Amino acid sequence: MNRPKTRILVDGGDPQETRQIKNLLGFVDGQTTNPSLIANNPEIKELLATGHKLSEKEQLAEYKKIVGEISPLVGDGGVSIEVFSDLNSKAQEMLAQGKEMFTWIPNGYIKYPCTAEGLRAAQMSVQQGLRVNLTLCFSQQQAAAVYAATKGTREPAYVSPFVGRLDDIGQNGMDLVKNIKRMLARGDGHLLVLAASIRNLDQLLYCFSLDVDLATVPARVLTLWAEKNFPMPEAGFQYHSSAKSIPYEELDLSQPWEKFNIAHELTTKGLEKFAADYRKTVA
Ligand code: E4P
Repeated sequence: MNRPKTRILVDGGDPQETRQIKNLLGFVDGQTTNPSLIANNPEIKELLATGHKLSEKEQLAEYKKIVGEISPLVGDGGVSIEVFSDLNSKAQEMLAQGKEMFTWIPNGYIKYPCTAEGLRAAQMSVQQGLRVNLTLCFSQQQAAAVYAATKGTREPAYVSPFVGRLDDIGQNGMDLVKNIKRMLARGDGHLLVLAASIRNLDQLLYCFSLDVDLATVPARVLTLWAEKNFPMPEAGFQYHSSAKSIPYEELDLSQPWEKFNIAHELTTKGLEKFAADYRKTVA
């Protein structure tokens, strides 16, 4: 296999699945988790099926155990661990969780949402030496705000544009990835693009052809890639989408993050869904 420049992360919450993908590909560069994926972990599902809900402490212990098993399986893309947050969460609460989670494994990235409180938490985190991944990114303005908030990070930070969820509302999610890449080419390199919410092989191949820094991909799509013998995009590869294209915006990356319009309905919806999935697991 010609290993792509794009680092490949497994988008999941089950160490066994990560092991299987590693066997199939011969490597896994990293992993992303989120509250919905953790709620879907087989051990947690088994516990819930017996009617046993976890205390918050138990839930955290399970999450720690899961990322602890995944951590040694992956390469330098690290393991993204998401703080619990909802629309009322304050930056300080998220930061406290992030600091605790960052001690769990040596290669953790703390995931905060692209909200004002999430950006504040990320800004404080990078000042304290934490690696961060800003999730639920649905606009170029949000990505620009992430760039501004994470300036000065010791190690590159990640921003995760969600492709599939934009497609779901009729917008071409891959345009957002392309636009953020183009915008960050003018930057100082401290922020990397991690394409997320990838639903099919074409999106993965387009990530490769755009030289996206990292892509987090469900096991199902990676298995398909392996079954087809690891195709790579041909020169001049064209990505076809019938969804509405997302135009590029000229944004001034030297502005403070508060200057960007970071509101997006899908960030709000996504946060609510993550919170609901987390709550399903706790008593
Ligand atoms: C990863 O960081 C994201 O949480 C994940 O890719 C979201 O994917 P989904 O839109 O398929 O839930």
